[in-house]
Amino acid sequence: MKNNIKTRFASAFEEDVYNGLTSCPKHLSSKYFYDKKGDKLFKDIMDLPEYYLTNCEYNILKDNIQEIADVFWGTNGFDLIELGAGDGKKTKLLLRYLSENRIDFDYLPVDISQNALDELQESLKKELPTVSVKLQQGTYFDTLARLSDYNSRKKVILVLGSNIGNLLHKDAIDFLIQIHEAMSPDDMLFMGFDQKKDPQIILDAYNDSTGVTAAFNKNLLERINTELGGNFNLDSFGHWETYNPETGTAKSFLISSQKQTVTIKDLELKVEFEAWESIHTEISQKYDDMIVEWLANQADLKVTDSFTDEKDYYKNYIFRKK
Ligand code: AVJ
Repeated sequence: MKNNIKTRFASAFEEDVYNGLTSCPKHLSSKYFYDKKGDKLFKDIMDLPEYYLTNCEYNILKDNIQEIADVFWGTNGFDLIELGAGDGKKTKLLLRYLSENRIDFDYLPVDISQNALDELQESLKKELPTVSVKLQQGTYFDTLARLSDYNSRKKVILVLGSNIGNLLHKDAIDFLIQIHEAMSPDDMLFMGFDQKKDPQIILDAYNDSTGVTAAFNKNLLERINTELGGNFNLDSFGHWETYNPETGTAKSFLISSQKQTVTIKDLELKVEFEAWESIHTEISQKYDDMIVEWLANQADLKVTDSFTDEKDYYKNYIFRKK
């Protein structure tokens, strides 16, 4: 039990972990999955046969590249701003098409992780040396604010991977409003949304047979152990996935299989777990056209085009200001 309530923290990570593990029910934020090991595990997830999202989006881009390019980069000279650039496998498809067609553009990948940006730049230098790359290290929020003054030419903002799915609808709307504020009248937003589908397919994507997703989820506890002096026993926690077809929300949990006490030195905290008590760690929201249009509308955006795969598992939408 905590005796005195801690109010001073050395980092946002400390504060969020403290607040999440002293709440009832307990929770931790999925944004902390992505340290070096987490980045690697997420790459492994993208290669899983069960994790259909990556392939679907890759195929959507590949099969519609000319049409997407016509809608977007019809006019010459624009800035392609990607929020959450990752390893860029899907983006490279676009970059290659644009550079092969001698379209004049700069690529501005935005990421919180300088390490991820450096690796991306390194691979682009080798694979697509003619593309002009301008790395933007920072949060989406800060970078969007900075780039809203970046009005010399048209902006195309790219958010791939259904990354918006980690946000509750209210936060997704705030995110879209921030993007809206950074957009000039001619700018566009291109965003991927994982779609509602057979619940079993969704459950399998987040509960793969090889246990990579479980390791990804447990990496949160490992980070607390190494960075905050925690003593979580990873074997005493299991990964659990749920999907609610009514709300379209997939949720990940870590579940303590026994009654136990975990100590986190840097937080001066002892956390008690009852047997089978959960920590909620992630939501991965699934969408349909109605929800996407509602979200867009709340942010004063409108859907002007969309592209899907042959099974309608996944959809990329183009948004413009209303
Ligand atoms: C990167 C947020 C889109 O929710 O599908 C993959 C992260 N979590 N497997 C998702 C994730 C578990 C992923 N996003």
